[in-house]
Amino acid sequence: MEKVQTVKDSWDANLYDVKHSFVSKYGDSLVELLDPRKGEKILDLGCGTGDLAKKLYDSEVDVVGIDKSENMVEQAMSKYPDIEFAVQDATELVYKNMFDAVFSNATLHWVKPPEQALECIYKSLKQGGRFIAEFGGKGNVQIITDEIITQIKQAGFEYEDEQFPWYYPSIGQYTSLMEKIGFKVTFAQHYDRPTPLDGENGLRNWIEMFGSPMFVGISEERKDYIVTNVEKNLKDRLRKNGNWIADYKRIRVIGVKE
Ligand code: BEZ
Repeated sequence: MEKVQTVKDSWDANLYDVKHSFVSKYGDSLVELLDPRKGEKILDLGCGTGDLAKKLYDSEVDVVGIDKSENMVEQAMSKYPDIEFAVQDATELVYKNMFDAVFSNATLHWVKPPEQALECIYKSLKQGGRFIAEFGGKGNVQIITDEIITQIKQAGFEYEDEQFPWYYPSIGQYTSLMEKIGFKVTFAQHYDRPTPLDGENGLRNWIEMFGSPMFVGISEERKDYIVTNVEKNLKDRLRKNGNWIADYKRIRVIGVKE
């Protein structure tokens, strides 16, 4: 049995809603790709604080939102008490033949091993059900993460590849996995989506919110020093008109359970 790698619940749901609401705003166009129909039963996998689940709910979909983070699920429940939310790990879904669609925005790059998540997604779909996902693809935020790793090492700390918290496949790699599990892949796309991170501290806030697994064993003081150097070295490449622009690269896929 492969080891399931986990990310501890370091999510700050309030910070996420205040500073990173762009995540669900970008998800709006993924909802268009999902093309939800009235009365469908849809799983929102990695629902965060529930904003896209609410959008589905408003289209008269019977939506269930799940997230691995208790903080996120608590916030989602308090924002949208009429919607069903639950804490669940994408690699251990409990559902069988239940959903017309599984929808996932900006989540699957956190989930390892990906085969296990795909198997769970496949099992949770009804025959003919569809899987629509967007997440970080090959090369995602690589300018930022390469610089963080360089600065961690220059500050005298060891950095092991296993510390890298994300999975960023190419569409070739991911669609092959989907086919291996049994999906018919009907759509796949890999594209650049430069993403503004608001304000002077945008990059620092992003690293604070998402990058903590890269800094395990490093004190707050040394982390601050490392992040300051990352900012210094990246400002010419990633700062435009007062905003940080992160080098996001996305993949989007649609698979059908045959
Ligand atoms: C992403 O959506 O690609 C992403 C978000 C946070 C950390 C890493 C990647």
